[in-house]
Amino acid sequence: MPLALVTGASKGFGRAIAEALAERGWTLIVDARTETDLADAVGGYPKDITAIPGDVTDPSHRRQLTAAIEQLGGRLDLLINNASTLGTSPLPQLADYPLDDLRQVYETNVIAPLALIQAVIEPLTAAGGSIVNVSSDAAVEAYPGWGGYGSSKAGLDQLTAVLAEEEPRLRCYAFDPGDMRTQMHQQAFPGEDISDRPEPFTVVPALLRLLDERPSSGRYRAAELTIPQEVSR
Ligand SMILES: NC(=O)c1ccc[n+]([C@@H]2O[C@H](COP(=O)([O-])OP(=O)(O)OC[C@H]3O[C@@H](n4cnc5c(N)ncnc54)[C@H](OP(=O)(O)O)[C@@H]3O)[C@@H](O)[C@H]2O)c1
Repeated sequence: MPLALVTGASKGFGRAIAEALAERGWTLIVDARTETDLADAVGGYPKDITAIPGDVTDPSHRRQLTAAIEQLGGRLDLLINNASTLGTSPLPQLADYPLDDLRQVYETNVIAPLALIQAVIEPLTAAGGSIVNVSSDAAVEAYPGWGGYGSSKAGLDQLTAVLAEEEPRLRCYAFDPGDMRTQMHQQAFPGEDISDRPEPFTVVPALLRLLDERPSSGRYRAAELTIPQEVSR
């Protein structure tokens, strides 16, 4: 069975991805910082998986993840860098952005994904595998207030693009899921009703299509991968 490592799999989009991959028979390694939430999520998965609580910014946690890959045979088919932070909420203007918060945003959204890629590049290359770095439209659109988070995702996009050139044996994707009704999205819009945003599971088919069809490395938006539903008459 193929092996995937999915970060931030206790909630939101990461949880929806992990559930879908488990249903398809993938073997999974997943993480998130809050042990109880991760245990709850894993309890709902249809298959045994390796759940390792920890923070992706912590090198010792990343070593635990790579040790788990070794224990499962030393071959990795898919890395999904999904764990992410929004940063300061409510979203500040750049002129007021607390720089220590911004460092933490870059540490989580840019440095940690690259560190994980570096840690698993050998088992991933051995499998001719794929990397999915979960991005955002804030990486390419200039939304006021989104400069901290958006610039981190822009950095992640550029890492993905360069990596694709450097690692032709891998598929390297930046995947923009679009708006989703999650805790992170609520943090971006504190106190607002976000019930009109789509649930994360509705975005999963677009990601599965990317994994199934394995187009060239690049940046993909969920909206362009969604298979149109037949209109009933
Ligand atoms: N929601 C949207 O509208 C939207 C739009 C565009 C892009 N995205 C992107 O989609 C991805 C998923 O976001 P989401 O909305 O599903 O977020 P979410 O509901 O807040 O879930 C984030 C998940 O990541 C975990 N996590 C956060 N920081 C972590 C860390 N340092 N180490 C390990 N795990 C960590 C969280 O658990 P713990 O807190 O317990 O660690 C949780 O499982 C992110 O990359 C986000 O930037 C989201």
